[in-house]
Amino acid sequence: MSSLPQTLSARLQAVAGIDPELRPATKPQFGHFQSNVALRLAKQEGKPPREVAQQIVDQLDLDDIAEPPELAGPGFINLRLKAETLATAASEQLADQRIGLPIAEHPQIVVIDYPSPNVAKQMHVGHLRTSIIGDCFNRVLTSLGHTVIPQDHIGDWGTQFGLLVEEILDAGIDAGSLDLVAAEDLYRRANEHFKADPAFAARARSRVVKLQSGDAETLKIWRQLIDISTAAFRKIYARLGLRVTEENLAGESSYNDDLEKVVSELEGNGTAVIDQGALCVFVEGFNSPMIIRKSDGGYGYSTTDLAAIRRRVRELHANRIIYVVGAEQGFHFDQVFAVARKAGYLPDGVEARHVAYGLILGNDGKRLRTRSGSTMKLVDLLDAAEAKAAPAVAMAAIKYADLSSGLNKDYVFDIDRMVATTGNTGPYLQYAHARTHQVLRKAEAEGIAVPDKITVLDEPAEQSLALLLPRFGEIVEEVAQTLQPHRLCGYLHDVAVAYSTFYEQCPVLKSEGEVRASRLALCLATQRVLAKGLDLLGIQAPDRM
Ligand code: ARG
Repeated sequence: MSSLPQTLSARLQAVAGIDPELRPATKPQFGHFQSNVALRLAKQEGKPPREVAQQIVDQLDLDDIAEPPELAGPGFINLRLKAETLATAASEQLADQRIGLPIAEHPQIVVIDYPSPNVAKQMHVGHLRTSIIGDCFNRVLTSLGHTVIPQDHIGDWGTQFGLLVEEILDAGIDAGSLDLVAAEDLYRRANEHFKADPAFAARARSRVVKLQSGDAETLKIWRQLIDISTAAFRKIYARLGLRVTEENLAGESSYNDDLEKVVSELEGNGTAVIDQGALCVFVEGFNSPMIIRKSDGGYGYSTTDLAAIRRRVRELHANRIIYVVGAEQGFHFDQVFAVARKAGYLPDGVEARHVAYGLILGNDGKRLRTRSGSTMKLVDLLDAAEAKAAPAVAMAAIKYADLSSGLNKDYVFDIDRMVATTGNTGPYLQYAHARTHQVLRKAEAEGIAVPDKITVLDEPAEQSLALLLPRFGEIVEEVAQTLQPHRLCGYLHDVAVAYSTFYEQCPVLKSEGEVRASRLALCLATQRVLAKGLDLLGIQAPDRM
């Protein structure tokens, strides 16, 4: 299914031979779209642009959907869709349960690795971004008929647990009584202890060995630390409304039994070789090898990620794997993907993509920190936002600010700007949505039925809105492909702005007959697009605000 602008563009391209680069017209008197294709062709061919434009227009057949094209200025081609064509497209969308969201022709199984925080540490601001972005991808891809499997790759394994468990035993603490804040504090103390006391350091090291060899007491405390942490994570996931459940938990430790298999497979097919006592994979384009097994026999973060790809492809049957992880891990993922391809864990048909994101900055333009200079906890950001607005609005503010600029850009966490109901913000979109509801509610109260057809589109403001709404499906598809949520944010903002112009210029309930009916239907279509669009961003759309 192609949208009207896509159809116009394709027909113009068929005649002109090059991309017409159709742009929305800047003024209603220029129609709906404008192309400078004749100016570009004229330059190439050394002919007068208006002549070239006239030739194109003469060959162009758009009678079924558009008014006769017009030439403007030095050779612009202005196109105006017929009001009936716009009305038909908008009505078709309104009649569609899916509001024009297409169903993928080839539904995929998509694994999304998020939010993946670390045990015995509170989630920090970086985890805010993976949570919001990962969940948006989850919603967008699911809405198009793909099967999404989130994988919460929590950091629940490694030498730090030797320290932690030893500190707990040393201090005679009941691990079951700790909460995550206390556990994190303990971690800090354990590190200090480790540095200051060689005897403790030795005990902590042997505690790591006990953990790895499955010592019951050690495992029990380690488990308790995981339970404390995941309980706190789940509270935050719930606050953010994430579509990640306990079933999606697949922490680093869940791959422990696979690591030896990975090693024997890589050694068996010659992918990995021993270098200075360590088992390594060398891949072209990387100046250091990936260490699969350290010379002391230990495994690291990378080996676990190889095992994770192996399981995601073989057992979860992923066609696409998306890692929503901070930009600083770019090298790690490039290398993991290259090694996984070489090893055959990542077949050609499976896409692996690291979606990196930029930093969240403070008002001073530097990495967001607490007053005392330590890294900001995610929970503090949520509290700060909820101190300014109701939870649904606060979450909208945070999520929209995060998704609406390019993911790889840093952005400033300016809570006052983010919660404002004017400007390019989440709450502004929520208000626009609530206003559509208000009109529909009033109509209902007055006993006026909302029809399912848009029939009259005489006013430019009605036309602009009717032109935008049916593009919804195409925009969502674009986000699914490019993994750039800011496109959906920009589109929804355009819809909200077009709606408010329409609302100012075209009375709805005060008009009559077919005009009123058609305008009400347009309100309903706008309401549905905004509600679904916000949902895909993970933002609630309350009926009243
Ligand atoms: N736990 C890591 C962190 O908080 C992120 C893990 C990302 N996922 C992965 N498969 N490596 O930085």
